[in-house]
Amino acid sequence: MAADIGVYGLGTMGSALALNLADKGFQVAVTNREADWIDGFMQDAGDLTPKLSGHADLAEFVNAIKAPRTILFMIPSGKPMDMMIEAISPLLSDGDTIIDGGNADFNETRRRSAAMKGTGLHYVGMGVSGGADGARFGPSMMVGGTQHSWAQLKPMAEAIAAKFEGAPCVDHLGPDGAGHFVKTVHNGIEYADMQMIAEIYGLMRDQGGQDAGAIGDVFEGWSKGVLGSYLIEISAAALKSVDDKTGKPMVDVILDKAGQKGTGRWTLVEALKLGQSANTIEAAVGARGWSSEKDTRMAADQLLDRSAQTTDMPSVDDMENAMLAGRILGHAQGFRILSSASDEFEWSLDMARIAEIWRAGCIIRSALLDDFAAAFRAELPHGHLILAPDMRARLATALPGLRRVVAAGVLLGQPMPALAAALAWHDTMALGRGTANMIQAQRDFFGAHGFERLDEDGKHHGTWNDV
Ligand code: 6PG
Repeated sequence: MAADIGVYGLGTMGSALALNLADKGFQVAVTNREADWIDGFMQDAGDLTPKLSGHADLAEFVNAIKAPRTILFMIPSGKPMDMMIEAISPLLSDGDTIIDGGNADFNETRRRSAAMKGTGLHYVGMGVSGGADGARFGPSMMVGGTQHSWAQLKPMAEAIAAKFEGAPCVDHLGPDGAGHFVKTVHNGIEYADMQMIAEIYGLMRDQGGQDAGAIGDVFEGWSKGVLGSYLIEISAAALKSVDDKTGKPMVDVILDKAGQKGTGRWTLVEALKLGQSANTIEAAVGARGWSSEKDTRMAADQLLDRSAQTTDMPSVDDMENAMLAGRILGHAQGFRILSSASDEFEWSLDMARIAEIWRAGCIIRSALLDDFAAAFRAELPHGHLILAPDMRARLATALPGLRRVVAAGVLLGQPMPALAAALAWHDTMALGRGTANMIQAQRDFFGAHGFERLDEDGKHHGTWNDV
């Protein structure tokens, strides 16, 4: 029987998605660059084997899929994708769609979509979130590309997606690179959330003297309240996990150097290009970079004076509130980048829809996302999430906790770059009269760059005293 879809790439994510599709009743053709993986995959598929067909030969793989074809690539982003497009395109026919389901730079997705225009072939950049388990049992998917491709993909994507109260967590968000861009920003928000959780953990560990299990208990409690989310849940479970080699908490045997594959950094780069500054996300990316300088930090620990002033440890409620406020502010920055990009690339992104498809399946799923979606569905003052009445009320309640936590961190010498950044951004946005008049004065003083006046239109220069 001809396959409904082809999956190229049988790594962790590709094989999980192929099995998910087969599980939902679709016929799936699979292949892989290293052809010897195919047999192993087919054997492991168990009961699902009749729904799958393995093909070592690329032309055979293509011919096994019913036209117009939908072919999902789950391979490393960048050059490998370009090479595969070149190899497979001559084998395809009008109306066929190539989907890149990896974490790709949306600029590359736009370039490839443009190159495919007029060839009869279609290109879709699709963000897939939720890790291996998500891919196997229900990911959140952010789809770009043409309407034609979406019509082909939709029934399959909706069947395999995570469901939030029955609604599939997938949608066509816009043309060309929209899907990959939204996934990139999702990851930026993911970085910020993870970093803020790590900062609260650090405060409890270093200043509160709590062990991993005790911190895990607090997080577990939080996971049942306003902070309910996948990331708090897994952090609680991770803190309570024990290393079978040493009997110590797992987190206590892990080197404090964080890895990163680049999506968090892409979020920042694009934010800056759009004239935005997502400082909470930036702090999280930066903190991963600093963490990699382990040797320097070990030396500096002895050489620099971090001695601090005494202050009371913030309460557990303060820390919960700090995390809540930080989470709202981190997401608000992410959505701000999305709306700038939507204007810039004319994508007409629907923020409420994006929040909705993040409610289940993805790494940043949390109780708050349903509230964000509701806020976007209602009238949003100045288009800004932090000005939504519900968010203003939550921030008003949570902000004192964030202030006390950041203040304690400052006094105790406990770094909290992301939480402090979130607070600084909040306070900047909440200050009608800021301090950029001083910047403008300096610019005009040394470079005659001019400034606008409060009392007159037009561009002006100052009457400056000599130095
Ligand atoms: C997801 C994740 C995933 C990402 C990893 C690792 O949504 O499922 O964002 O796509 O690749 O979490 O990312 P880093 O290596 O950059 O931390």
